[in-house]
Amino acid sequence: MPLVKAYDEVENPRIERHLPNGHFAWRTDFIKRPEDKSVDTPMAFLAEGSANRVLRVHFHVVDQFQVMYNGSGSVGKHAVGPGAVHFSRAYTPYGPISYSDKGLGFITLRAHRDPGAQYLPESRSVLDNVANRTPWQITAFPDFDIVPGEHGVAMKALDGLQGHDGLAGFSVKMNAGAKAYAPDPFKGDGQYILVMKGAIVHEGKVRRDLAIIWVGRDEGPFELVAGPDGAEAIILNFPVPGGGIPDEAKPVAADADGELKTWQCILCAFVYDEAAGMPEEGIAPGTRWADVPETFGCPDCSAKKADFEMIEF
Ligand SMILES: [Fe+2]
Repeated sequence: MPLVKAYDEVENPRIERHLPNGHFAWRTDFIKRPEDKSVDTPMAFLAEGSANRVLRVHFHVVDQFQVMYNGSGSVGKHAVGPGAVHFSRAYTPYGPISYSDKGLGFITLRAHRDPGAQYLPESRSVLDNVANRTPWQITAFPDFDIVPGEHGVAMKALDGLQGHDGLAGFSVKMNAGAKAYAPDPFKGDGQYILVMKGAIVHEGKVRRDLAIIWVGRDEGPFELVAGPDGAEAIILNFPVPGGGIPDEAKPVAADADGELKTWQCILCAFVYDEAAGMPEEGIAPGTRWADVPETFGCPDCSAKKADFEMIEF
């Protein structure tokens, strides 16, 4: 049975913690991790934090989606606001997460139990000792400017969040009362549906935003019925574990004569392509790695230049 939980159905929303560094954090568990550590279940919670908090670079031992919900900030060097989706493979460091002066709230979604964040640099040796570690991460953005068609439904894939291993993401916009099936999660490792705006009707009850639905991989396509004000939702399908970088996301060879190279962050798998450079960082296309300034930091996990190695795809 899919798990359906709306914000107003959460027993103890916004549990407050006063952090030693003077910041506040509020946690709202939609699907709570069982106390018994041997029980593996999905986990879904909204984590909000006070203005200007900085969450250090860290990783988790399971694949994870994070969806920004309120406030704003950045993950690594990527600016994020409501709706932005960050996906990270198990054992892929990311961050720091910097909260703006409005604070930041994000929804963390996992298909499996995770014991908690492991921070760098102190947990670096954990990464070095994982056999066949296949780090990968991406930040993707939903598009709610889509216009529902004659059946009152519009659905659009999120750029970059697609893989043969079941990874998939979609924006969905529905008019009041419209019905649609979410894409079947059978190829991957389960699915979350986030009702970000409006409501859906499930088992005769209106479930308002924020509502979170977990659909197991064998549970078939979930039927979405939009509430009286319509609905905007994000659908996220987990890939099967251990798949690494989707074929679709692998960079192509830099150039035909093989002169320009690609370099990869050994911590998180971010790729620097000499042919493409990083114009947004002031590094022109064609810039050799040797000419990239020593102050360069990985845009995804903040690793230093020394943590990059040459790779060939
Ligand atoms: Fe990195």
